[in-house]
Amino acid sequence: MEYRSKPFVKWAGGKGALLGQIDKLLPHSFLSKENVTYVEPFVGGGALLFYVLNHYPNIKRVIINDINEDLIACYRLIKSDPDKLIKSLERIDRKFMSLGDAEKKQYYYYIRQSYNRHNKSILRQAALFFFLNHTCFNGLYRVNSDSGFNVPYGYSGNHIFNKDLILADHQILNTRDISILCGPYQIVTKHLRNYQKTFVYLDPPYLPVSVTSYFSQYSNSPFEKEEQEHLKEFCDTISRKGGYFMLSNSDCKNEDGSSYFEQLYKGYDCCRVKAKRFINAHGDRRKETTEVVIRNYK
Ligand SMILES: C[S@@+](CC[C@H](N)C(=O)[O-])C[C@H]1O[C@@H](n2cnc3c(N)ncnc32)[C@H](O)[C@@H]1O
Repeated sequence: MEYRSKPFVKWAGGKGALLGQIDKLLPHSFLSKENVTYVEPFVGGGALLFYVLNHYPNIKRVIINDINEDLIACYRLIKSDPDKLIKSLERIDRKFMSLGDAEKKQYYYYIRQSYNRHNKSILRQAALFFFLNHTCFNGLYRVNSDSGFNVPYGYSGNHIFNKDLILADHQILNTRDISILCGPYQIVTKHLRNYQKTFVYLDPPYLPVSVTSYFSQYSNSPFEKEEQEHLKEFCDTISRKGGYFMLSNSDCKNEDGSSYFEQLYKGYDCCRVKAKRFINAHGDRRKETTEVVIRNYK
């Protein structure tokens, strides 16, 4: 069976389930032009990245970025040296699959501790990250104030990786001129050349819809109202220079009930998509909700 490339990690806030709705909001005629550049400054699992790579052959250049170093190390290894990562994962998988249920759980916490020491080679750290992503609760990535990964065990019965998927991702990542960056989202700017040929999809950490809503802390840098406002200025710059952008966020409200993002992005197109998201701090209940999509085109 031939594997189709798609995210190699489970990722909180991943857009996999929304692709049908998001596809309808993409600038199709623009993405079908020659030599387009696709940019994702908050790539995460890259649900839309893999989708557009599969569907838009005219995208020639790609720039992806995330603040999570181990996630980006996985992208880089999968692009340039997937066999090394696969070998390392095979060793961990063999060991893990040979254990009984209670031992599996113990092994998870042992690996988590080892991962949190941050003293391994890039390859080993990326492999541990991959293992934790596939055996932790709901594929979350959440850190405490010391940057320690603190998601509990949540193995759901599958192998910890899929070799065919890694190879499919390797193949598609090599069909384009791709820059894989790691840092705060603003660093993509240095790599942007011809804005008129550029489409930027922004999927930042969401502003919580309420104080009790479920929130995944991806890193130690918070992403609250002030950061959302800076990001809006970043979008204004893309727009002013002639680029296309689309941004996803939560549909959160101001105290008077008006839409926070509709007000912040006044003058841009704002529509909504339906999503099912975890809604409480324990991440164990999913509720149908809406998310906003802001665009500088129709
Ligand atoms: C909502 S997730 C993106 C999910 C992605 N669209 C997917 O389909 O999996 C947001 C991402 O932003 C990253 N992030 C958080 N703060 C950041 C920052 N200041 N700059 C760049 N990336 C950041 C997180 O590590 C996380 O992967």
